[in-house]
Amino acid sequence: MCGIVGYIGEDEKKEILLEGLKELEYRGYDSAGIAVIDKEHLESFKAVGKLENLIRKTQDFKAPGFGVAIGHTRWATHGKPTELNAHPHLGKYSYVVHNGIIENYQELKKELINSGINFLSQTDTEVIVHLFEKYKEELNDNFEAFKKTIERIDGAYAILLITKDEPDTIFFAKNGSPLLIGFNDKNEVFFASSDTAIIGKANRVYYLEDGEFGYAKKDKVVLFDKDGNLKEINTKPLATDKLSAQKEGFRFFMEKEIYEQSNVVVDTMLGRVLDSEIVFDEIKEGFLDGIDAIKICACGTSYHSALASSYLFERIAKIRCDVEIASEFRYKEPLLSKDTLFITISQSGETADTLEALKMAKRAGLKSLTICNVDNSSIVRESDVALLTRAGIEKGVASTKAFATQTLLLWMFVLYLASKRGVISKEFLEEEIRHLRETPKALKVTDKLHSKIHRLSKRYLHGHGFFFIGRDIFYPLALEGALKLKEISYLHAEGYPAGEMKHGPIALADSELFTIALMPKTLLYEKIKSNVEELSARDATILAISPEPFELADDFIQTKYATHPMIEFFEMMVITQLLAMEVAIRLGNDVDMPRNLAKSVTVE
Ligand code: F6R
Repeated sequence: MCGIVGYIGEDEKKEILLEGLKELEYRGYDSAGIAVIDKEHLESFKAVGKLENLIRKTQDFKAPGFGVAIGHTRWATHGKPTELNAHPHLGKYSYVVHNGIIENYQELKKELINSGINFLSQTDTEVIVHLFEKYKEELNDNFEAFKKTIERIDGAYAILLITKDEPDTIFFAKNGSPLLIGFNDKNEVFFASSDTAIIGKANRVYYLEDGEFGYAKKDKVVLFDKDGNLKEINTKPLATDKLSAQKEGFRFFMEKEIYEQSNVVVDTMLGRVLDSEIVFDEIKEGFLDGIDAIKICACGTSYHSALASSYLFERIAKIRCDVEIASEFRYKEPLLSKDTLFITISQSGETADTLEALKMAKRAGLKSLTICNVDNSSIVRESDVALLTRAGIEKGVASTKAFATQTLLLWMFVLYLASKRGVISKEFLEEEIRHLRETPKALKVTDKLHSKIHRLSKRYLHGHGFFFIGRDIFYPLALEGALKLKEISYLHAEGYPAGEMKHGPIALADSELFTIALMPKTLLYEKIKSNVEELSARDATILAISPEPFELADDFIQTKYATHPMIEFFEMMVITQLLAMEVAIRLGNDVDMPRNLAKSVTVE
């Protein structure tokens, strides 16, 4: 987690850092800080809470003229979100910012304390700056000291370090956490955890690989690979589209992203969904040869899209499909066989558990495919094949459009695989393609629907909990609906298979238990209806979402009659997203930055 930025150049350094951090705030926002070295003058500022606080604190500070600067927005892992624990961390004359976790910091800290060094923070990061200064004194060379420091640390990191002792240089290293270097024609150098922080400032970018490190000066960046060999920096052009990352008149990014879903699924299908064929240019001929099973690993919302697709893989593509939560998979000593295609799903492409699961599968010799929204992310780079979801930057911490595009892309991939395996007819595929093309319409938010949900939401601000229930693919959707609600409203919500309620949870039923019943007409309608009747008989409050009027419902949101379960799925998905958002807004919560969460979870 956490976001880092760095800058070398002549411009107003404070502004560059704060603008960059604003873009990275989604990565963590419980404290933030900056440090600037301007000739030999060293300044730093830190503030707890959102970036606004740091902006206010640095109002009168100016940093024009040549210098080096680093900044950080934090999502606490070791040590509480306090000013002392906020980055940058100071040694005697150097500053460091770090994203990741230093696993052996306890042992290093003990060693440093024994040699007389005082620690100010509870963080793992502080060891880096003290180690650096210790080795500087021993070796009398800053870069050698930095090198030796990173040799000593284990774990995941993206590090930027500046020192008064060499005031024109930023030392950098990356292992497991994302870091990139941006360049422009003014000889300025930028560092960031993600390219949104430098769009509009740099025009070329280099994404560091694990184990790489080096140092940067105004017109010279020296890079070494993980074995310490000098490496040439091959940059790529940097994207310029920042507009899509703005709110465009919506109250929250999440709201804008819900409305965008109808368009981004069109992008996801572009060039891939043809009249009677699904095409993925990314998948080379023969890649799927010998594949006889699918294993999918993901976390959170991405896991829910995976779970929904597992019904489709087995039902349509007639291939065995297991889905696992990445953090569980990692430590269960899984049995993996080479006829299994290992699929990861990730919005950010940086989720530590998913990335690690992928590395395990690769070590076991499995072919890998990722469905991801961020090109050049760690998971994309690590995978044999990457199918990008093309949802655009998702800023709301609660994932919406990423989930929609993941689920759609998985449905497309199921059909692609099914036709490669020869288990579906041409007519069936054409019919499915016709339905795929109905998804943009199913995802459209009308004023009528939105205002109905807005009105309804006021009745759901209390109670002792929510159960979202569904069957088949609507069970993962129930899980996702419940996750959305709890993430942003902080109300307790659970997703449950409707048929399981009578095996325990029905004991909770009373009028203060809110049941959100997903009742599609195209799939197991009669079954779910009787499950909901059982709850209604115990006086649970029922909000039914269905095309079919349901007389026992306390509240009812009517969807359109459709002829394909996936179309009903997408329409109901939008309703659950809007419901969660409207409840959270009424409760006065920051929908885009819910407490305790971060957009990209790069720690395990
Ligand atoms: C919830 C949410 C998270 C993520 C999870 C995995 O709204 O966004 O549950 O889905 O942290 O993240 P990615 O998809 O980036 O791997």
